[in-house]
Amino acid sequence: MKYDFDRVLDRTNTHSYKWDQAEKLFGSKDILPLWVADMDFESPPAVKEALVRRAEQGIYGYSISSESYIESIQGWFESRHDWNIPSQWISQSPGIVTTLSLAVDLFSEPGAEVILQSPVYYPFYDVIKLNGRKVADNPLVIRNGRYEMDYEQLEGLMKNGAKLLLLCSPHNPGGRVWEREELLRLGELCLQYGVTVVSDEIHCDLALPGHRHIPFASLSKEISDITLMALAPTKTFNLPGIHSSFIVASNPELKRKFEARIKTLSLHMASYFAQDAVEAAYREGGEWLDELIAYLNANIEYAVDYLAQHLPQVKPMKPEATYLLWVDCRALGLDGAGLKKLMYREAGVAFNEGSVYGSAGEGYLRINVACPRSILKEALERFCKAAGTYVK
Ligand SMILES: Cc1ncc(COP(=O)(O)O)c(C=O)c1O
Repeated sequence: MKYDFDRVLDRTNTHSYKWDQAEKLFGSKDILPLWVADMDFESPPAVKEALVRRAEQGIYGYSISSESYIESIQGWFESRHDWNIPSQWISQSPGIVTTLSLAVDLFSEPGAEVILQSPVYYPFYDVIKLNGRKVADNPLVIRNGRYEMDYEQLEGLMKNGAKLLLLCSPHNPGGRVWEREELLRLGELCLQYGVTVVSDEIHCDLALPGHRHIPFASLSKEISDITLMALAPTKTFNLPGIHSSFIVASNPELKRKFEARIKTLSLHMASYFAQDAVEAAYREGGEWLDELIAYLNANIEYAVDYLAQHLPQVKPMKPEATYLLWVDCRALGLDGAGLKKLMYREAGVAFNEGSVYGSAGEGYLRINVACPRSILKEALERFCKAAGTYVK
């Protein structure tokens, strides 16, 4: 390994959302945080170098998106995802959740139903509800130990008039990498019922060995034309604090409406720092990412084995992508409040409590394993020791 993911870095007192809020959120500063999807690893060296160079310029003026930056996006998706994106389909957005929220406002009517597939990343609910729309839930079903889509129920929602669907691909939590046939079946239903799709593919680069992510818009021209792709390098290269993302839309009408709203809100200026970081990551971060994925995969295997040995009552769902381990802890017999008490007060760890992803997540925990193995080990030891007292 060229990169040392075992190295423990002290992130306290760095304004870290993950590390500097333990006392405020969980009641003690000694809590190990394995929650929000932010990794405890340095970004690829090329990113740091690009940011240092940019910082050294000393004048932090208004900035423009360069052609070379756009080409770096195109090059990455071509080589990593076999997907050719014409530059005129790409447009900037400050963040994926911003994109989701603007899309709900632009592509559905006030009071209308917007489809999501629970359990899902909780801002999906927020962007629907806070925009005055209704959640139309198409719950995922567990088959053979993994989540699958329920197409019949989905068709019912579409027949009922839902015209917008928020897809999470790969899915968070649970880490499904949707297969081509699954996506095609979904896409065909959307085409049949005139449903627009916003596909959040922030985890697209984090498919684990043996799985291949398929960009939704790459399925066919027809599917591409009903889709707004929400993409970002921020999970891939651990840059979430850089706030950079983009959309891809082959349909000029979708893109025009989105860009007009971005302009209305004056969110269209390029960030001074982001594009240099992103370009460096896309051009020079490939090898780092390959090593990262191997490390994450080993961490997942470690956690799954550890839980099987020390707390076999809980059942982790083996992710196909992401560094987020979704663990069924219902055998502990605790509700959301009970799981929080167990984590924060008894074990001294903070994982995400599952009910925030929807009622199907009750009794589940989501563990962020993107940390040095020693931290993961310590967190699992603490958790299993404390949880053991609940096992009947
Ligand atoms: C599925 C999904 N979408 C979006 C985000 C956040 O994106 P952003 O920070 O660009 O709004 C996350 C972060 O965990 C995520 O898991």
